[in-house]
Amino acid sequence: MNITEAPMQNDLFVRRLSCEDLHAVAEVERASFADPWSEKMLELLTVEPNFGFCAELRGEIVGYGGMQVVLDEGQITDIAVMPEYRRRGIAAEILSALLSAAKEAGLTVIFLEVRVSNLPALALYERFGFEKIGTRRNFYAHPREDAYNMRLFLS
Ligand code: COA
Repeated sequence: MNITEAPMQNDLFVRRLSCEDLHAVAEVERASFADPWSEKMLELLTVEPNFGFCAELRGEIVGYGGMQVVLDEGQITDIAVMPEYRRRGIAAEILSALLSAAKEAGLTVIFLEVRVSNLPALALYERFGFEKIGTRRNFYAHPREDAYNMRLFLS
């Protein structure tokens, strides 16, 4: 059986991001974004109070998500999954882990920006209760595009 067709959930392991993971996570970034974060930029997510989670499938990092923290507010920096592993619930697992850790850390509200055309990401965030609260004109480059600003209150 092709590895990408194999049942996956039992082999999926979502864990806290550490410095050793950043090389692989930078690859996930490059496979997912026109303006990817570099390994150096990703170090931000390993410095407290910020945090991140990565999804490991049979020893390979296939996705990750990051949270930047200021006081009791979190900002999701990015969530990305390797193209060949999408639509299998991996981003949902990562987002669940990020939100659980945010609650444990006492955060009360989470913000994020997302391209207005990014329907998969919008659907993911809306499924978790995020709501659109505004639009940022020309927030993104390559290609230039507006962002929705989204918010989730944690109870
Ligand atoms: N079309 C519509 N909804 C989608 C979708 C798609 N192609 N992909 C994900 N979703 C939504 C659905 O609501 C889905 O729930 P469902 O399966 O019950 O319908 C939910 O997201 C969870 O899907 P999941 O399989 O966990 O998502 P994923 O592992 O495929 O990852 C992204 C989703 C957005 C992270 C992935 O497409 C990706 O890496 N994109 C490139 C990077 C990116 O744009 N990140 C967001 C930056 S803000």
